[in-house]
Amino acid sequence: MTADLQTTDEPCLIAAGLSKRFGSFTAVDRLDLKVDRGQTFGFLGPNGAGKSTTIRMMLGLVSPSAGVVTLLGRDVALERTKALKRVGAMVEIPAFYSYLTGRQNVRLFARLSGGASEDDVTQALKLVGILHRADSKVRTYSHGMKQRLGIASALAPRPDLVILDEPTNGLDPEGVREVRDLIRDLGTRHGMTVFLSSHLLHEVEQVCSHVAVIANGRLMVQGAVSQLLGNHFGPVEFEVDRPEEAAALIQATMGLAPHWTDDTRVAIHMDRAQAAEANTILVGKGFKVSAIERRKQTLEDVYLQLVRDQAEVEAAELQ
Ligand SMILES: Nc1ncnc2c1ncn2[C@@H]1O[C@H](COP(=O)(O)OP(=O)(O)O)[C@@H](O)[C@H]1O
Ligand SMILES: [Mg+2]
Repeated sequence: MTADLQTTDEPCLIAAGLSKRFGSFTAVDRLDLKVDRGQTFGFLGPNGAGKSTTIRMMLGLVSPSAGVVTLLGRDVALERTKALKRVGAMVEIPAFYSYLTGRQNVRLFARLSGGASEDDVTQALKLVGILHRADSKVRTYSHGMKQRLGIASALAPRPDLVILDEPTNGLDPEGVREVRDLIRDLGTRHGMTVFLSSHLLHEVEQVCSHVAVIANGRLMVQGAVSQLLGNHFGPVEFEVDRPEEAAALIQATMGLAPHWTDDTRVAIHMDRAQAAEANTILVGKGFKVSAIERRKQTLEDVYLQLVRDQAEVEAAELQ
């Protein structure tokens, strides 16, 4: 096997031990990421977490302090041009030529990354929903249209991997929804692998099959969204006639503290077997249990839990 041979089951993107220090400040801290072909991968973290810095390192725009990035089987530091050949990216809105039309700009920017046929340019403009304005000068475009034009420029050369840094930033709610639908389509209908960063949880939850969460430059969790949600159960809610008393009984018999109670329910963190046991105990003591429900976790619940866990770990490290 030669070094040039690429198998299709090889990950599209690998970051291994990726770090970036600015002076004494560590913006990205030993990050390991793996994105497989066909995934729509969300890179999630609050502002300042290190997302843009990571993406710049992936694209060879910033050199890592440590670690390696491999795109489509090629080391970005060693073979930047080859590594980026089948990659389309938008890190920030490109500096478009305002006196040229949208179409002319896409053509130009596509030429910088390998070129695109006239048909591909038209398709990309259509895909992002600005074909009807393609022959107007960019000077007349709104912020949202320039954002779309940036995405069109990344898509026109028909890349295998698309990397987008906060693609819905600065768009109005309608634009956000359209770009979100577009990104979903890139994966499901056009077979592209998409890596996008976002600080918006619900956005990632709606669009992405896989996610990595970072905070302070560090990876907190990575995996399939469905798996993450499955591994992090929410509390079980018992609809019961005397919630406060029911909570006290479960605490006394099973040692489980209530998460919350209200007028009709008590919610307690427990696994399935414990839920069944708690039900037996409650019914045995004459409580009227009218419903048992485990509310679906959102990515936000998981994320907030992770942030809390991380804060506890850091507090413990300081002691
Ligand atoms: N060139 C730079 N010099 C110094 N600090 C930087 C530089 N670029 C980014 N940072 C810092 O690194 C951290 C991560 O920034 P960034 O990657 O832009 O985060 P994000 O994209 O997740 O909002 C921030 O604290 C930011 O201020
Ligand atoms: Mg950023």
